[in-house]
Amino acid sequence: MTADSPDSDFEDLGPEGVVTDGGVDAEGADDVALDPWGSATVSDYRKLFAEFGIEEFDELLPEVPDPHYLMRRGVIFGHRDYRPVARAMREGEDFAALSGFMPTGDPHIGHKLVFDEIIWHQQQGGDAYGLIADLEAHSARGLTWDEIDTHARDYVLSLLALGFDPEEGELYRQSTNRDVQDLAFELGVEANFSELQAIYDFDGETDVSHMQSVVTQMADILYPQLDEPRPTVIPVGPDQDPHMRLARDLAARMRYFRVTEAFAGFEVGEEDERDLLGAVYESLDEPADDALRCEDAAEALRADRADYESAGYDAATVEGVLTKLENAGMEPIRRRTRFLGRNATDEAFDALIEAVDGEKRVYDEHVDAFDLSRAEAEDLAREIEVDHGGYGFRAPSSIYHRFMTGLTGGKMSSSVPASHISLLDDPEDGYDKVKAATTGGRETAEEQRELGGEADECPVYELYAYLLAGDDDEFATEVYEECVGGERLCGGCKEQAAELMAEFLEDHQDEREDWAEKLDDLDIDLDVAADRRG
Ligand code: TRP
Ligand code: SF4
Repeated sequence: MTADSPDSDFEDLGPEGVVTDGGVDAEGADDVALDPWGSATVSDYRKLFAEFGIEEFDELLPEVPDPHYLMRRGVIFGHRDYRPVARAMREGEDFAALSGFMPTGDPHIGHKLVFDEIIWHQQQGGDAYGLIADLEAHSARGLTWDEIDTHARDYVLSLLALGFDPEEGELYRQSTNRDVQDLAFELGVEANFSELQAIYDFDGETDVSHMQSVVTQMADILYPQLDEPRPTVIPVGPDQDPHMRLARDLAARMRYFRVTEAFAGFEVGEEDERDLLGAVYESLDEPADDALRCEDAAEALRADRADYESAGYDAATVEGVLTKLENAGMEPIRRRTRFLGRNATDEAFDALIEAVDGEKRVYDEHVDAFDLSRAEAEDLAREIEVDHGGYGFRAPSSIYHRFMTGLTGGKMSSSVPASHISLLDDPEDGYDKVKAATTGGRETAEEQRELGGEADECPVYELYAYLLAGDDDEFATEVYEECVGGERLCGGCKEQAAELMAEFLEDHQDEREDWAEKLDDLDIDLDVAADRRG
């Protein structure tokens, strides 16, 4: 974790008018599995908050300057640690956005969400990266390099056609990016098989290249920080969250120093022990002089032991802290910031000791600073690390979007063409697919006028909210309200959506053609097959 704390100077304004909930929160279905190579469905997004610690995006919407419509409409529903990115955006500081695409088929309107997210961050001043996960497609999905080249080209063209600026941002593919591969190798030193097994269900049959594609993705995620640590957001679907958790862990494990809060010279084990020690420390009376000692804290803890245990600290934690306090006896107890040397070289550790301002105490494995705040300590640790050849990674952030419902109901699947719209679909086919889509409409027109349609369950409404209404909230709200108010009937509604879709596809494909002519000038190799076998 970094020292970034939530900004407090923002009122919670709540989400604005339009909120979509496009038919994905089916009652009763409660299967939540996050599997990057499994089927991409989530039946209940709320569970992701409780089970996996993904945070609700709505809560920080007021902190994001000029939020994208996908944010305003709740399509981007969750995040991990997005605050540092939002802050950098507000303050005009350096930040980055990166996402990757496995070139296993045509890019479709689900991928467009991610393309738009990258592009929006680029327009907000971020350094943007779009990568083609060709090593992953080859190892995890078994595509040939010829197939991969074709799809890679298609993804790149759509990303460009939608507004990615290749002069400002970077496009790359995993297989030709030597820096990414080198970083993957370094990160691999910090991860072992048991861990991948636990996270991804890998087993003895999993090929080594598939495992390698995992560390490659870890390297992708940290690549924007290779020159310099900075807030980085990875926009993805929630199926990629296991990758994010691992990447955040690895980023922390690579760090030279760990900064914690401490109260005495001894080191506590678990986070729980530190909490308890903090609570006991807080409970002690202000010392008249500097004479508050560990044995005083031990006495206080012994006296209130039952209270602490009923507050949730388990007996072993209490016992552990008590023993440490008793052993420290006469040692003064005082709040301090501690630097633990994890991967630091001796020189880096010495340089850190030297650089700590104010009162400090040096131990074998750590140094305690009495006049530095946690945030100052984090900054210092990072600075010394970077000066001594470390990466100083910040934990990467992520934002998560909802998956679109398939046009035929159920999930959008690339193996069922009628369920999704490819960005390469003929505009007429796009039109037809929308016309044939399932709706949230009632049995008869009368019923619809009386009860209203179920926009929240309607894949066509989703098309408006996720794509067709674009930035126009008023239009999206109008469709929604006319639908649920019974003024809008499905026939006309689909006709309008189908026309807008055909228009969108036509424009998009024109843009793609323009870019196709300029593709050779770009710094991305779209003909890898010729150089490889396998
Ligand atoms: N695993 C991602 C997918 O299945 C692709 C990917 C590779 C990626 N590297 C990445 C996504 C880095 C985000 C960031 O689509
Ligand atoms: Fe869906 Fe439109 Fe019918 Fe409403 S009127 S249920 S939004 S197709």
